[in-house]
Amino acid sequence: MKHEKIEKNIGLMALLVIIVISGGTMVENVPLFFLKETTQPIAGLKPLTPLQMEGRDIYIREGCNVCHSQMIRPLRAETERYGPYSEASEFVYDHPFLWGSKRTGPDLARVGQRYSDDWHRAHLYNPRDVVPESVMPAYPWLFENDLDTRKVEDKMRALRTVGVPYTDDQIATARDEIRGKKEIDALVAYLQQLGTVKSNKR
Ligand code: HEC
Repeated sequence: MKHEKIEKNIGLMALLVIIVISGGTMVENVPLFFLKETTQPIAGLKPLTPLQMEGRDIYIREGCNVCHSQMIRPLRAETERYGPYSEASEFVYDHPFLWGSKRTGPDLARVGQRYSDDWHRAHLYNPRDVVPESVMPAYPWLFENDLDTRKVEDKMRALRTVGVPYTDDQIATARDEIRGKKEIDALVAYLQQLGTVKSNKR
């Protein structure tokens, strides 16, 4: 029997398993590269402002994404706690993605506008001042450090090469826009826009 031949020949078996798994993977993944829903930005999505973009880099530098995901799954327990589930079209300007998988703290995909700027500042200065049982670290240095403006144009140009539609004008005025800010201003600006573009499915 043909089947017996395959089962008794580990080389042939391995090869066929690889072919089957690769085929299955392609069938699942390749269409995603061509679907509008996954490749086109959601209506109203704008590239981050220079201040928000610098805030995102501080978010990465401080490892916030190690404890916080930015992806609400389409499960009832998640949508009831965090809000409408995340859609791929919300993330087309995100490089790299910060979806994450580890949740020591809550998901932040829709935290934008949920708290005031003052709340975020108090919380980041010392989480225990506003949430007594919190295990989140404090980030007091963000209030002292001046925002580094030196690389803002280069970063925006780099993002443009991977498809974020920054205009020459936006890049030219970026440095003036963020001059004199502290790191905390950038981080809070970034947090306050998370998940604020509304989908027409909701
Ligand atoms: C060691 C894990 C850890 C790290 C690192 C961490 N957090 Fe948290 N975060 C938590 C936990 C736990 C909570 C829930 C308790 C609280 O609100 O403080 C939380 C809560 C939050 C909340 C409130 C969310 C909500 O819906 O109530 C925000 C906003 C937040 N973190 C932002 C940040 C930012 C920005 C950074 C990086 C500068 C960061 N976190 C780093 C663990 C962490």
